Amino acid sequence: MNMKKNAMFIWYGVWLLVLTTCQSEQKSEKKTMNNENLGAYAKDVHSFARPQEVVMNHLDLDLQVDFDKKILVGKATIHFENKAQGDTIVLDTQGLTIEKVLLDNGKETPFWLGEKVKYLGSALKIKISPESKAVTIHYRTSPQAEALQWLTPQQTAGKQKPFLFTQSQAILARSWVPCQDSPGIRFTYTAKVQVPKDLMAVMSAENPQQRNEKGIYEYKMPQPIPAYLLALAVGDIQFEKIGERSGVYAEPVTLKKAVYEFADLEKMLEAAEKISGIKYPWGRYDVIVLPPSFPFGGMENPRITFATPTILVGDRSLTSLIAHELAHSWSGNLVTNATWNDIWLNEGFTVYFERRIMEALYGKSYFDMLSVLGYEDLQKTLQELGENNEDTKLKLNLKDRNPDEGVTEIAYEKGNFFLLTLENQVGREKFDAFLSNYFKEFSFKTMDTERFVKYLKEKLPEAEKIGIEQWIYEKGLPKNCQKPVSERFVKVAQTIQKYIENQEIDKQATQNWSSHEWLFFLRNLPKNLTKEDLTKLDQQLNFTNSSNSEILTAWFELAIEKEYEKAYPQLANFLQNVGRRKFLMPLYKALLKTEKGKQMAKEIYQKARPNYHFVAVNSLDAIIQ
Ligand code: BES
Ligand code: ZN
Repeated sequence: MNMKKNAMFIWYGVWLLVLTTCQSEQKSEKKTMNNENLGAYAKDVHSFARPQEVVMNHLDLDLQVDFDKKILVGKATIHFENKAQGDTIVLDTQGLTIEKVLLDNGKETPFWLGEKVKYLGSALKIKISPESKAVTIHYRTSPQAEALQWLTPQQTAGKQKPFLFTQSQAILARSWVPCQDSPGIRFTYTAKVQVPKDLMAVMSAENPQQRNEKGIYEYKMPQPIPAYLLALAVGDIQFEKIGERSGVYAEPVTLKKAVYEFADLEKMLEAAEKISGIKYPWGRYDVIVLPPSFPFGGMENPRITFATPTILVGDRSLTSLIAHELAHSWSGNLVTNATWNDIWLNEGFTVYFERRIMEALYGKSYFDMLSVLGYEDLQKTLQELGENNEDTKLKLNLKDRNPDEGVTEIAYEKGNFFLLTLENQVGREKFDAFLSNYFKEFSFKTMDTERFVKYLKEKLPEAEKIGIEQWIYEKGLPKNCQKPVSERFVKVAQTIQKYIENQEIDKQATQNWSSHEWLFFLRNLPKNLTKEDLTKLDQQLNFTNSSNSEILTAWFELAIEKEYEKAYPQLANFLQNVGRRKFLMPLYKALLKTEKGKQMAKEIYQKARPNYHFVAVNSLDAIIQ
């Protein structure tokens, strides 16, 4: 490329011929060719990187965490392979201030920051020479960096110390680290992070288990990962062991509860290893429980899942979320979707795998409950999107769009039901062998939909009967998708029937219900219930004061629809304290359906918005004017 001709780019640096003092840059210990076996890269419309020319394979980070200014300051050394012997490396950035860039010979080198492109940020083009192997970028993040959420003490569980966490998926890593931010590009990393002395920091890497005096932590991630799995959390966190290779990090006030909730972690690991036929490949598996503003349920950061505190319900009934994030250790983190158009390969496989883990631990009846709820979610999404919507295809087209738009039940549940249909067609034994070989063959590699279809047809020719192309490349849900049935939910349906007949809840029948039964109950109450009916239900079951966010959300949705105003103060409270998008979206949407509700939604949103994560704000701004 002739950079001078490219008028879009602003000249930022000067090409210095003078030798500067040689910087003692950290050299990567392991110069693996992480991307060597990739062959042709699938075109990623969400990254400026040109991996065919120059591809990064290692990162050394050195950052200071400044809570006062809400920024990270430091440097990132990008080690790369200059395949085409070109003169430029292209990285992704978003809102970063670049101070200077040095080559591995210690000299400053010119760089150009491209114009801002919607969703993608700015390309950072750095001049290199054919023999360069690394560049060091001195930079700072913006206080508005989309991957970073800076919490005041008030926004944490303990209310004493501030907290910071990152969320890099899908394309937000570039807002805190200049890098080739494409899921098809893998690199190893080391990091040195300096935080206030009274806080501890963990990353998606080998982690400390104790706070140190200086507040300086060092990390190593020896396995190559894509940028969306870069993660950092800083706060008043403590560690407690669960098994030999698993444990929990959480704020001190949350730690005990989390340790109780996740008691079965080791069993999950063992089940996942058995199903996948591959030993857990990342060393340790820990979970960190974040403050309630975390916008997701969970995030599969390698070695340390980031999780919402809303699954700490005291009866271990929402741990399928942990099984899900653990399952990503294989489906996603080991075999990775090549682009965000292929996200079903990450999420659909993971839902399938998550349910297999839950079945192994708690039996078929548990699996069936999760399947039925998932199927209901899928039907709801299909209805909302409309059967004729392009986004109901497994293979998506997210060009010029926010990849977040691909995160729907289509990738998760249609993907899962596709795999279930395959399993039913060929039998579990064969399907398990297929899965295991798939994970083995493509470990630490990327996968796109086309390559997967080819592999599937090759290895399981009899699978063609189910109509693979229709499932993947066509809209809606194929007719051969089997509607799941749950015996435990049949009982719930009977309880609902009895309730309709005599207006009394059979307390004996509901005594041992898990979150799932209650969810099914609330979702399947008769449509014609009145406000008075809700009043009576609430008197008997006290839903409004439930401490279970899943149950609360289902209940509040009903309460809003029937204008059961007694629940409103708790609803407002919930919306102000919980930042998980999965709960916020349906509740705000329900409120927006009526004039009165709209008023309430706006008032609450105005107060709560500053407490929500960028990811949630982005989705909510689009529906609340
Ligand atoms: N990887 C996802 C979260 C994600 C997806 C973040 C796409 C950004 C873009 C994670 O594994 C996930 O699926 N979380 C779910 C929970 C799960 C049990 C379905 C969530 O957060 O609700
Ligand atoms: Zn997932």
